[in-house]
Amino acid sequence: MSTLLIKNGIVVTATDIYEGDVFVDGEKIAAIGTALQMSADRVIDAKRKYVFPGGIDVHTHLDMPFGGTTSADDFESGTIAAAFGGTTSVVDFAIQYKGQTLHHAWETWMKKAEGKAAIDYGFHMIITDLSVQVEEEMDALVRQGVTSFKLFMAYPGVFMLDDASIFRALLRTGSNGGTICMHAENGGVIDVLVKKALTEGKTAPKYHALTRPARAEAEATHRAIALAEMANVPIYIVHLSAAEALEMVTEARDRGLPAFAETCPQYLFLSYDNYEEPGFDGAKYVMSPPLRPRETQEQLWRGLAFNDLQAISTDHCPFCMKEQKVLGKGDFSKIPNGAPGIETRMSLVYDGGVRTGKISLNRFVELTSTSPAKIFGLFPRKGTIAPGSDADIVIFDPETKVRLSAKTLHMKVDYNPYEGREVVGATDTVISRGRVVIDGGKFVGRAGSGSFIKRASR
Ligand code: URP
Ligand code: ZN
Ligand code: ZN
Repeated sequence: MSTLLIKNGIVVTATDIYEGDVFVDGEKIAAIGTALQMSADRVIDAKRKYVFPGGIDVHTHLDMPFGGTTSADDFESGTIAAAFGGTTSVVDFAIQYKGQTLHHAWETWMKKAEGKAAIDYGFHMIITDLSVQVEEEMDALVRQGVTSFKLFMAYPGVFMLDDASIFRALLRTGSNGGTICMHAENGGVIDVLVKKALTEGKTAPKYHALTRPARAEAEATHRAIALAEMANVPIYIVHLSAAEALEMVTEARDRGLPAFAETCPQYLFLSYDNYEEPGFDGAKYVMSPPLRPRETQEQLWRGLAFNDLQAISTDHCPFCMKEQKVLGKGDFSKIPNGAPGIETRMSLVYDGGVRTGKISLNRFVELTSTSPAKIFGLFPRKGTIAPGSDADIVIFDPETKVRLSAKTLHMKVDYNPYEGREVVGATDTVISRGRVVIDGGKFVGRAGSGSFIKRASR
């Protein structure tokens, strides 16, 4: 087992900032101090750099079949890109298709990840068909470390569950300690609006956004929280994008309900205006929920600062413009939904959140690592820098300037939603369970060295 000493860095956790040293023994953090006198196989000087717990992205879609195609990053390219960006754990989504068991879905996704993932990974389970046997299987999965389930209130006929099934699943988490993650958009309303738009010859990418109103997200968010309240269990709203939906979460939290929500960088840095880009370029931003008016960004930042939103994940679901997004040329409803983001999250949020003073450095760590770790049963093994925790560590240079571009990023997708944007603050060295995986801007890890993370229940 090798040892590693990170010297003179500025160690930042969700609660502390101090100049210090971190000693790693094998896969774990073994000691922290202000001037550790220990010898190690390797010493890294982190002077004037931040030492963060590894980023945790609890919303990714690697190698996911969707909209007649498959997301462009598999577990190898996606997790390597994640590591470049300072993320050392992902929680991806396995999908139970109708008629299948949850176990089959889990096995299928484990095979996708095994031998490929370069960082640690866990799974949420998407349930599309909730029979009595499937309810029983939920309990078994929780025991095996798949402790959260995503349900959809959108995509009728594909993923959507009715309220009764949603309520049953919520009730089940009351006894098995799992957590329901909700895609909150009113799928019935959206379907009617989509059909109407297409009948009227409105086929361009921007109609994706115009047929998914903020109120459809707010209504579903309100309903999801109400169902969870009646079931007396917590709920986690994924990829929250609309100010109207945030109001629903805030109202619930003000009443003391355990309602949690994440937002994503795309909702903090992009807006409806992107759909107005010329030609078919608006397709780059077709995702659900869609991008919202620019003013929403400030409201989301406020939600993040004041803990009405608890996490920033990516919803990384990349599709190339060539061959994939193009499936929806002439019909926006056929554009595969999703965008790349697994690699750019930490730099974007640092640059646009910390450097602008919207969130503190501690809150940055909390939103990108600690809080998702706590919500999803990874803490304190992950999500902090403490003796006994996994040595998932990011050495981050707050002065490095990077111009984001599909040409230099490592995600396997032919465009980047932030193309040309300059960010200040970037990953320098990344350590995953004691192994250096990014060293001076180079990937030195190994595909397949990531492990399945058995997560704890509530
Ligand atoms: O557009 C999106 N968000 N694609 C990924 C699937 C989902 O709903 O998260
Ligand atoms: Zn979703
Ligand atoms: Zn998603």
